[in-house]
Amino acid sequence: MMILLLVIIMDLNLKVNENGNMTIANVDVNEIAMDYGTPLYVIDEERIRDNYKRVFSAFTKYYKKFRVLYACKANTNLAVMRILEEEGSSIDAVSPGEVYISLKAGFDPKRILFTGNNVKDNELEFVDEQGVLINLDSISQLERLSKIVNPENYKISFRVNPMVGAGHHKHCITGGVMSKFGIKEEEAANVYKKAIDLGFKPIGMHAHIGSGILDPEPFKLATNALLDIAGDVASKVDIDFEFLDLGGGLGIPYTPEEKILDINKFAEEITAIFKNKTKEYGLGTPYLYIEPGRYLVGDASVLLTRVNTIKNSYRKFIGVDAGFNTLLRPAMYDSYHHIVVANKVNNEEVEKVDVAGNVCESGDLFARDRMLPKIEEGDLLAILNAGAYSFSMASQYNSRPRPSELLINNGEVEIIRKRESYKDLFNKQMVPKRLEK
Ligand code: LLP
Repeated sequence: MMILLLVIIMDLNLKVNENGNMTIANVDVNEIAMDYGTPLYVIDEERIRDNYKRVFSAFTKYYKKFRVLYACKANTNLAVMRILEEEGSSIDAVSPGEVYISLKAGFDPKRILFTGNNVKDNELEFVDEQGVLINLDSISQLERLSKIVNPENYKISFRVNPMVGAGHHKHCITGGVMSKFGIKEEEAANVYKKAIDLGFKPIGMHAHIGSGILDPEPFKLATNALLDIAGDVASKVDIDFEFLDLGGGLGIPYTPEEKILDINKFAEEITAIFKNKTKEYGLGTPYLYIEPGRYLVGDASVLLTRVNTIKNSYRKFIGVDAGFNTLLRPAMYDSYHHIVVANKVNNEEVEKVDVAGNVCESGDLFARDRMLPKIEEGDLLAILNAGAYSFSMASQYNSRPRPSELLINNGEVEIIRKRESYKDLFNKQMVPKRLEK
């Protein structure tokens, strides 16, 4: 049996064996890259389960009526969703497609909350038909839903804008005056009243302030704000909140300098505010929901990509076989993803390079001026923290088929998504007869 030298580098959950090769759940990633080809997403099942258990036990220690709604936009691979369903998770779905895939993954419709934005009527109809609770984001949606369903005692909830926003990038801030999401706080009581007048039975309130937040302060402000709005609504209309949903946004460290969110302290502080305020406003003991996406799956996956070209131009470029079509975050948000030379993990970082993808756009870079070990063509790079908003934001741009995904569990490797073929690039297209050749 190979003795593994397990070294954990920083907070980034990276493990290395005695040959200086990166491993995931005791599997050498170099071997799987050889077997399955690159680019390749590799997911660590145990890490997802640990992430879920950590957040669930942190909160339930202080407040029993607690639910985790996995924000599945982060990663909709069916196997990933099955793992979270097995753990007992519920779902935050933002589109009919996410509702559909969640049902396919075995989630009980009663454990799915649909929070759509700019939703059209046939989408509301579809979600209603599935028996999924609708969290309304606008007065327009409320009015239209009242014509689609029989509102008598029909359960709904509302997303409000708590006027607190935070996030790792301006595109990822979802509260405050610039945000398109939620009902204005000063209108909340009237909107709940209007819903009740129409016959609906509102049972919840929701807010989501943004994504990629490591600082607990904005969450505390938002929890206070949401509870204040709920208290105000409850003082003006006849309502019994079954749940108050604080949304997602819990960050993970991407850079070596960032520190993990202390989830126990976080849960203690948030539940303290929740308990104090529900008591202050006489709201009883509603369920506390949170909707983490990134926190559950972000650090459970790496993207493996092979170096095929080293170019000494005006800068030194390390050219790899993935691009922003595979992992968009660096190009879209300037996001940092730690990069490891998976076959030389312990080698000293000796030079500054740019790691460039294979898409024909100048913005297709995974890193600029990154200190890395001496790299040769054929080396394997692992781009860390590629479990959230990675495959789910991948595209076929430049007509490159999307990669494969593997799941590792207890040293066993299973394929959970086949690599697309060239045929997949056009299999929904149709050429009019007159243009056929
Ligand atoms: N709930 C709602 C209503 C959301 O819109 C989101 C994310 C979440 C929960 C989960 O947020 P999380 O816990 O994952 O931060 N593509 C961006 C992130 C966009 C997040 C959009 N909404 C990125 O790659 O950073």
